[in-house]
Amino acid sequence: MAAIRQTALITGTSRGIGPHIARAMAKAGYNLVLASRSGRELEALAKQLTISGAAAVAVPTDVTDPGALEHLVSVAEAAFGHVDVLVNNAGGDPQREFDQMSWSDNERIFRLNVLAPMELTHRLLPGMLDRRSGHVVSISSIAGRIGFPYTEAYAAAKDGLIGFTRVLRNDYRSRGVSASVIVLGAIRDAGQGQRTSDELGLDMPRYSTAPAEAVGAAVVRAIAKDRAEIVVMPGPGRVMKALMDLFPGLGRSMNRMAGADATMSRVIELRKRSKLSA
Ligand SMILES: NC(=O)c1ccc[n+]([C@@H]2O[C@H](COP(=O)([O-])OP(=O)(O)OC[C@H]3O[C@@H](n4cnc5c(N)ncnc54)[C@H](OP(=O)(O)O)[C@@H]3O)[C@@H](O)[C@H]2O)c1
Repeated sequence: MAAIRQTALITGTSRGIGPHIARAMAKAGYNLVLASRSGRELEALAKQLTISGAAAVAVPTDVTDPGALEHLVSVAEAAFGHVDVLVNNAGGDPQREFDQMSWSDNERIFRLNVLAPMELTHRLLPGMLDRRSGHVVSISSIAGRIGFPYTEAYAAAKDGLIGFTRVLRNDYRSRGVSASVIVLGAIRDAGQGQRTSDELGLDMPRYSTAPAEAVGAAVVRAIAKDRAEIVVMPGPGRVMKALMDLFPGLGRSMNRMAGADATMSRVIELRKRSKLSA
């Protein structure tokens, strides 16, 4: 008898790293529920995955809208019965200075990157607990661990996502529901980091970046091996992370040495100019 396919709901699948996660999950045999705001891109991915043999539905969703989350869950359940795995991937940062953004801009960053993942988890958790089975994977960032310049709200949210996952895992694992966090360094070939580098005409050197496919592989591995945390980042970034854990006061000098200060100052200028011309 064929094994029953599990269903994964993945947010942020219209572009960037999300489609790589969706392809890896499809290859691992999951039915897929794809959620992002851009319907056309989602439909195109769902079609592609279906042609390659997976069952996929696209549900255009703004994850920061609680009503849209309710709709997302009900469409997912109508399509596949229930959701076994949630991958909280939608996220991002407008790359502007904390004091130059309005308070509601900062709140939006926080809502997208930590409150929405928590709310979606909160909606799906009761069903997972009833079935004594489920896994929540959240995509965080090294920005939540080191003091990357101009990321106050984003860093707080991504650090929050790491803490949320840690406690969720501790509290519900004995009842069949686990949680993993994937901490990303700079990712090349797709996503916000690659787009920003392209805009600035910067290289994404292989020694300091990981390919987008590695994120998909990490999500599949985190579920299969029930890992608490997987860091997707080559050696130098891992050293920075370990140093920051031990000596948090080193942040400023580390940013200067790694060139993050200079690069992010250029990014901030670019964002200011595009805002003025918008
Ligand atoms: N790229 C990197 O180097 C890097 C590094 C560390 C962490 N990360 C994390 O990795 C995840 C994916 O990032 P990425 O680089 O792939 O970013 P991206 O290319 O900007 O893609 C972001 C995805 O999230 C979706 N999204 C944004 N706002 C949304 C909303 N309100 N409702 C629903 N979906 C929304 C976008 O779709 P729509 O616009 O269609 O809604 C898109 O599919 C994020 O959590 C990010 O923080 C990325």
